[in-house]
Amino acid sequence: MGQLEQFDPKTRAELAGELQRRVDEPPQAWYCNRRRECDGRPHEGYNYNHARGSQWPPEGLDWVVWAAIAGRGFGKTRLATEWCRKMSETHPRIAGIGRRGFDVRATMVEGQSGLIAVCEAAKQTYLWEPSKREFTFQNGGKVHFYTAEEPDSLRGPQHHLAWLDEPAHMPLIDDVWDNLMFGLRLGTRPRVLVTTTPTPRKWMKELVKRDDTIVIRGSTFENLENLAKTFADNIVSRYDGTRLGRQELYGEIIEDVEGALWDSDMITNAHDFEETKLEGMPFTGYDGRAFERVVVAVDPAGTSTARSDETGIIVVGKVGRQFFVLEDGSGKYSPDGWAKRVVMLYRKWSADRVVAEKNYGGEMVASNLRNQDDNLPITLVTSRRGKLIRAEPIAGLYEQSRILHVGHLETLEMQELEWVPDEGPSPDRVDALVHGITDLAGSSREASIASPRGNSFTSSPVGPMGRGIYLPQGRIHTP
Ligand SMILES: Nc1ncnc2c1ncn2[C@@H]1O[C@H](COP(=O)(O)OP(=O)(O)O)[C@@H](O)[C@H]1O
Ligand SMILES: [Mg+2]
Ligand SMILES: [Zn+2]
Repeated sequence: MGQLEQFDPKTRAELAGELQRRVDEPPQAWYCNRRRECDGRPHEGYNYNHARGSQWPPEGLDWVVWAAIAGRGFGKTRLATEWCRKMSETHPRIAGIGRRGFDVRATMVEGQSGLIAVCEAAKQTYLWEPSKREFTFQNGGKVHFYTAEEPDSLRGPQHHLAWLDEPAHMPLIDDVWDNLMFGLRLGTRPRVLVTTTPTPRKWMKELVKRDDTIVIRGSTFENLENLAKTFADNIVSRYDGTRLGRQELYGEIIEDVEGALWDSDMITNAHDFEETKLEGMPFTGYDGRAFERVVVAVDPAGTSTARSDETGIIVVGKVGRQFFVLEDGSGKYSPDGWAKRVVMLYRKWSADRVVAEKNYGGEMVASNLRNQDDNLPITLVTSRRGKLIRAEPIAGLYEQSRILHVGHLETLEMQELEWVPDEGPSPDRVDALVHGITDLAGSSREASIASPRGNSFTSSPVGPMGRGIYLPQGRIHTP
């Protein structure tokens, strides 16, 4: 309260009034007497927005997994925090699992729909101990938090219930899920609440197929009036009417596209390196060996084959027989802008070459890059050869798990899964990717992909200068 002193009398009076209003306001119940029939709008006894029917837990008792798979801003996190608060009365050991420590804190606990916000709306006290990753409700029930970056930490502890926020975006979800399910054995009927926008990943597809899973779907539009206008406008204009929008706004799990060169099973994420990437430090090798080559590939907007105004920029690396897609720097750029970005990534990853698709004139692309850096080693490629002919062997490498994605390259992955060669031109990010991997594969005399699988993992690392560290195989734990 002493802090009020710093304000002028008028502000002080306003703040005091606001505090008083908050104290006087009756607690706001989330679940109302109309139950699942309710549209969540104010009505008698509940003169504020509250749970819509679609935010109620599934009826009945014969489910283990409640999967709320819905668009961004639907109110997934909110339905979960409210459910945890309610269930803590009878289920005092709840596991809360977030993508990263940051998500636990900033979204699940301290966010606008976090545990703190719902306790305050309910006028209940709580205790949040970030150092213990432990949240205690007024009734003494607790949520113990874990991050999906450390699946092993879920091994051992037992819980009555669990809540995973955005698991479709957790790189290590398979390990997280196995460990969690193993530890869910307190009480008689363990339950798991999964709140997420979907991704077309294997784990997600298997989850919704379980016969003890109840799937609740919903769209962003259902909750529009509770969203900040800028947020709503932003995501709606960005995604509405697009295929990605079906996922991001409507929560649909996008099925594999018939005729597409890639399907979701082919895309493997290099889990081991996720954390390092999050630390903002590029990783530099694999399996104890430094990258032999790193290439930044670019398909500039405005080339003869460009289908959109985006420039595809993809960084790829190679260790032995393994290729990595390291970063996607694609976007809308001015000619100057994309060249700057390419050079930035070239330096960041200590790359040895830039591979660029030529435009009509050919020289514009190269000179554009040289404007940024005179000495840039550039290989120009044409797209005269059919895109499909170039892309097919790359898809073949994916099938053999020889190309791994570092982290979630969601837009690139979506373009891969969507592109049907017979139906339309290849997307920019895919083009850049194909150019990059083709260059790497060619340099190791693997242009003929069908070559027998010799074990070429024995050569010694030849790390280019500036790449002093490389990571051992296995997960790197950040303290
Ligand atoms: N039924 C509701 N009544 C009032 N506000 C709601 C309701 N559902 C969600 N909200 C609010 O809408 C915003 C977005 O909800 P959130 O749970 O964060 O969405 P999501 O996790 O689906 O992206 C939050 O401010 C949340 O408190
Ligand atoms: Mg959320
Ligand atoms: Zn109601």
